[in-house]
Amino acid sequence: MGKYNITLIPGDGIGPEIVGEAVKILDAVSAKYSVGFNYTKILMGGCSIDEYGVPLTDEALETAKKSDAVLLGAVGGNTDTSPWYRLPPERRPEAGLLAIRKGLGLYANLRPALLFDELRASCPLKESVGEKGFDFVIMRELTGGLYFGDRYTVVENGKRKAVDTLTYTEDEIRRIAVRAFEIARKRRGKVTSVDKANVLDSSRLWRAVTAEVAKDYPDVELSNMLVDNCAMQIVKDPAQFDVILTENMFGDILSDEASMVTGSLGMLSSASLGAGKFGLYEPSHGSAPDIAGKNEANPIATIMSAAMLLRYSFDMNDAADDIENAVKKVLKSGYRTGDIYSDGTKKCTCTEMGDLIKENL
Ligand code: IPM
Ligand code: MG
Repeated sequence: MGKYNITLIPGDGIGPEIVGEAVKILDAVSAKYSVGFNYTKILMGGCSIDEYGVPLTDEALETAKKSDAVLLGAVGGNTDTSPWYRLPPERRPEAGLLAIRKGLGLYANLRPALLFDELRASCPLKESVGEKGFDFVIMRELTGGLYFGDRYTVVENGKRKAVDTLTYTEDEIRRIAVRAFEIARKRRGKVTSVDKANVLDSSRLWRAVTAEVAKDYPDVELSNMLVDNCAMQIVKDPAQFDVILTENMFGDILSDEASMVTGSLGMLSSASLGAGKFGLYEPSHGSAPDIAGKNEANPIATIMSAAMLLRYSFDMNDAADDIENAVKKVLKSGYRTGDIYSDGTKKCTCTEMGDLIKENL
């Protein structure tokens, strides 16, 4: 029997609840496909700060590094009220997330934006736009750019000045571009590279390197779009996109917008990939501290992240299909957690949703 080591990071807020449901599903997959999953839990984010004073310990990072894949719930708390946000920035929960991305070399962040047929009513876009449907992914660069450039605050002539730097090397751009073209090849063969080349040097290099990579993919169509226009096009005509390729900061912003237009943030998974098969998988939503511990959270994004984990890190495509189909069946039968509930559907809890998906596997 094959055996895989999975690092679990339940994290903060609703994290432990939703990861618990995903593990339920992974256990069912393990039984059905006779594959062993060994879980090791590590702390990250606020819970790690409470225990160790830092959002990610070296030991926790080592544990993750040694495993075959990581499943993450969510980290962080309420930024206005939580004491974690009175700490210096490098000791806050989010610093743990940045440290694990960098420490594990996860430079490619894949975030799907898919309008589920069953949830079309939740799409906040104009009916004429929503009824066309859309299904695109954002390939966000995750370990470069403004997030990891030099930053400092100084006082000059009695005035404070803050500096953040946006740097990209051609190698950093090339490796993420390759990932985008590879994914596009398995989808509808379209890459939209998004930048701010009318202003930024880093964007002009981005455009040049992406065009070079495109030469190796004659079967994939490349177009360029300025980021401000892209923000508009996502609400105007999202069906035009297949793969959006973009740098770290633009990807952060556009992926929130993209998930919102699906009307179902609680449904969207994401994968952060490095060079080999290793990856970190997490829901696109946050830790929702307001509903933590109430058994109200929607576990579907985390369960779909577990499906992505099986697909991309373990090559278990059938098991991943099973999970995605089970989710669709449950939605078809009308069950909804509070976030996607609408009149005429059946409200269920986080654990009930997990059980229903398990029964339909
Ligand atoms: C995300 C989040 C993080 C990011 C924060 C929590 C640091 O917004 O994963 O999109 O900006 O990358
Ligand atoms: Mg974000």
